[in-house]
Amino acid sequence: MQIQTHSTPSISEGMVISHMRMLAPYTEKLQEALDDREYTLPEALLRTPFDTEVLEKIIKNTERFAGKTKTVLLVGIGGSYMGTCALYDALRGHMEHVQGTSAPKLVAFATVEPHVLKSITELLAKCSSAEEIVLIVISKSGTTTEPLANANILFSQFRERFGKESASNQTIVISGTDSPLIKSAKEQGMLTFDMPTHVGGRYSVFTAVGLVPLRILGLDIHAFLKGAQEAFTASTNTKKASGAAVLASFLFEAYLQGARVHELFMWNPELETLGKWYSQLLAESIGKERNDGTAVGFTPTIALGSTDLHSIGQLIFGGRNDRYTTFVSAPTAWESGNRFSSDSPFVLPVFEGKEDGMVTRAMYEGVRNAYTTHDLPFVSIELESISERELGAFMALQMTTILFLAQLFDVNAFDQPSVEKYKSEVRRLLT
Ligand code: PA5
Repeated sequence: MQIQTHSTPSISEGMVISHMRMLAPYTEKLQEALDDREYTLPEALLRTPFDTEVLEKIIKNTERFAGKTKTVLLVGIGGSYMGTCALYDALRGHMEHVQGTSAPKLVAFATVEPHVLKSITELLAKCSSAEEIVLIVISKSGTTTEPLANANILFSQFRERFGKESASNQTIVISGTDSPLIKSAKEQGMLTFDMPTHVGGRYSVFTAVGLVPLRILGLDIHAFLKGAQEAFTASTNTKKASGAAVLASFLFEAYLQGARVHELFMWNPELETLGKWYSQLLAESIGKERNDGTAVGFTPTIALGSTDLHSIGQLIFGGRNDRYTTFVSAPTAWESGNRFSSDSPFVLPVFEGKEDGMVTRAMYEGVRNAYTTHDLPFVSIELESISERELGAFMALQMTTILFLAQLFDVNAFDQPSVEKYKSEVRRLLT
């Protein structure tokens, strides 16, 4: 993965370096968290991709689903399901309707959509055996309204079609150690996995929360963890400035200079859900009150290159300038070998002798040049490929960036008190 920062006259490199210096003591703390086998530190998420005990348990207990699963029904919300969706969409989902592979499909349920839930009855009716379906329910607290509502309806449909024993055998619950949800799942004899107490939803993709569904979907979780291990090791190196410290320091300086929007500009459409995963990480971790009472935060936005230039390009280059952009791309995915034909009814003179990927590259370079001309601050992250390993590395890089950013902002990266307020208000209304 390559990271390239681009300064503007308003973002002083000296200030960025001074932010990076401030992060040095915290880097030492992160290094401790990497070895925190008991998951006692708030930063224990750094330990998760190294936990071989959890990995072995996952592999042993999910073996029986291999080769039989056709559909994974994934129930969760926010951090409990977004990471899996990001990986699936990047590696499988984007072209699924065209390629129609026989690999297991993912159907994810976050908000409660009664008509979609109803349609699952038809899916179940077409299954010849319960083993074609795996229902995975994830909620750390085990009390969030949406996942419990979705799980309730889906499990009832499953039970009605195949009977209680088969439905329970094919249901997996991942939740906090003492949550009411995990207790009830254990009583039903379902397969369960505990979530470490100090690892919150949005930081949990390298725990059973991401690994169980990804493995059942047939994705390479070893490569995914390897990428994360490499990124966490690099980000906690106390001897060398890490990419995460650089990214956080640039972002913080951009905020001090007036940026309030952080746009993830994805140059491969299959990375759109990864952008949503990042949006949650940034918004829930940084959008809050500092310890001194002032409210801070970036509004995360996602744009797709070059598609969205035709909707927001005018705003970017001609409107209010309050954004900091991260371009994310995997240029190797633009290499198809498709040559433009000169005797096609669809030609432009510039196509002559070129391949389609050259158009994408020209758009990408052209936009970055325009950002430079307009003095818009940005950073570019280029993935070597769209693969489990690179995605694991990207997610780990961003998690550490957010931890560093929280230090600079002086906010707690791990809580989400305002989301809790909304959750309890929903419960009140339903009561
Ligand atoms: O990152 C977080 O902590 C949140 O987004 C949670 O994942 C989300 O609110 C779901 O909570 P729970 O897993 O307790 O159902």
